[in-house]
Amino acid sequence: MKITILTLFPELYENFLKTSIVGRTIERGLLDVEVVQIRDFALDKYKHVDDTPFGGGAGMVMKCQPVLDAFNSVKQDYSYSIMMAPTGKTFNQKKAHELSKKDHLIILCGHYEGMDERISSSFDEQVSIGDYVLTGGELASMVIVDAVSRLLKGSIKEESTSEESFENGLLEYPQYTQPADYNGQKVPEVLLSGHHENIRKWRLKQSLKRTREFRPDLFEKHEFTKEELKLLEELDEEDSD
Ligand code: 6GU
Repeated sequence: MKITILTLFPELYENFLKTSIVGRTIERGLLDVEVVQIRDFALDKYKHVDDTPFGGGAGMVMKCQPVLDAFNSVKQDYSYSIMMAPTGKTFNQKKAHELSKKDHLIILCGHYEGMDERISSSFDEQVSIGDYVLTGGELASMVIVDAVSRLLKGSIKEESTSEESFENGLLEYPQYTQPADYNGQKVPEVLLSGHHENIRKWRLKQSLKRTREFRPDLFEKHEFTKEELKLLEELDEEDSD
């Protein structure tokens, strides 16, 4: 897979692309990331990429010409393009899977007060990472690259992604490592038992419990299996004890 990032701040990506799983995925040749400086496409002497908004108002707006010239210089017939914007659709794990199947993903990062509206019609969709405002799309684009790259075949063990939060519509169960007793806080007995079936049930039950408590929105949408309904009954009985 190839990802092209269009940005005014290419230097922000340097360490990010060298580090941890993203770095390793690139090193293994599973992912190629190209970072393109939009300013290189500005035509005037001072390399302006923004201008004041028509109709007045605070801040500057990114101009069509440098952004779309940068975009057109990297776009292929098979490219899929997204524009990072707080007004876009909220990113989630399902979208991460969708994007991880593209051969070429182009990500545009906005800055200043926003983009000239006419830029958006060249892009397949607008994506936000949550309900808060960042100063630019760069951090948001790193969230996308991180979430997508770990889903590429060969990036990390597939078991690690199939059991984690959001994959089955539930939050992941709690994990523990040595020591079994940390200053009096003990690891649940069942995890030390070596009984795989009991451990599997306990984990599923904890997933249900956590999701109900912390993410009632996910819990409400979840389609429960017979086993899950039984575990929920057990949880309710334990609560009333
Ligand atoms: Cl994609 N951009 C900006 N500027 N702020 C955001 C965002 C994106 N997603 C959430 N907040």
